[in-house]
Amino acid sequence: MPTEKAPLSALDAIYRRHATRAYKPDRVDKTVIEALLQAATHAPTAMHLEPWAFVVVQDRALLRRISDRAKAIAQTPRGSDHRELARSPTRAVAMLSDPAFNIFYDAGTLIVICGKAMGPFVSADCWLAAENLMLAATALGYATCPIGFAIPALADPEVKAELGIPTDVTAYAPIIVGVPAAAVPAQARRTPEILSWKE
Ligand SMILES: Cc1cc2nc3c(=O)[nH]c(=O)nc-3n(C[C@H](O)[C@H](O)[C@H](O)COP(=O)(O)O)c2cc1C
Repeated sequence: MPTEKAPLSALDAIYRRHATRAYKPDRVDKTVIEALLQAATHAPTAMHLEPWAFVVVQDRALLRRISDRAKAIAQTPRGSDHRELARSPTRAVAMLSDPAFNIFYDAGTLIVICGKAMGPFVSADCWLAAENLMLAATALGYATCPIGFAIPALADPEVKAELGIPTDVTAYAPIIVGVPAAAVPAQARRTPEILSWKE
């Protein structure tokens, strides 16, 4: 299993984390998920609010239903924000209208980081927790991908009820986790654009 190897350094984990879209069918053990949730909760948190709460979904039929709901919402006018944010909106529309396409890429584990409070930094806190979780997963040999396309479905009252998310709690960061099917090449980044550097 991936966890048998020595963990990577923080910098190695940063540079080896890649959005992964193909997974082996292996189940991610409860102990691994608990370690990832612990790492998530060590993220910085504004005013030490720790506003997060977690949902773990390892029921593949339920994941498929949430994926189908997300795809249905994406076809509606309220799904347009997400469609048009894609680098290629035309490709996003084609993928989302393909009945076989699973927005979770057939990963067997979804962790949703939810915000329990309202406030200007709750979303930031949840995404910082998500990055901690993804880096910890990378360090332990697992792969991840944030799934922004799931967010509208996770706001749907029926889906929230099924997942035990109270009405006043918001799903911010859905992250799939699994054993990668193959090595994923790094996506290039532009060099940091420095607007000013005053000395
Ligand atoms: C907020 C957010 C939402 C994302 N949503 C999706 C998604 O719905 N589906 C997907 O395949 N990738 C999604 N991604 C992954 C990005 O496409 C990926 O991070 C980006 O292309 C850079 O690649 P890298 O993470 O491998 O460096 C999302 C990333 C972020 C930060």
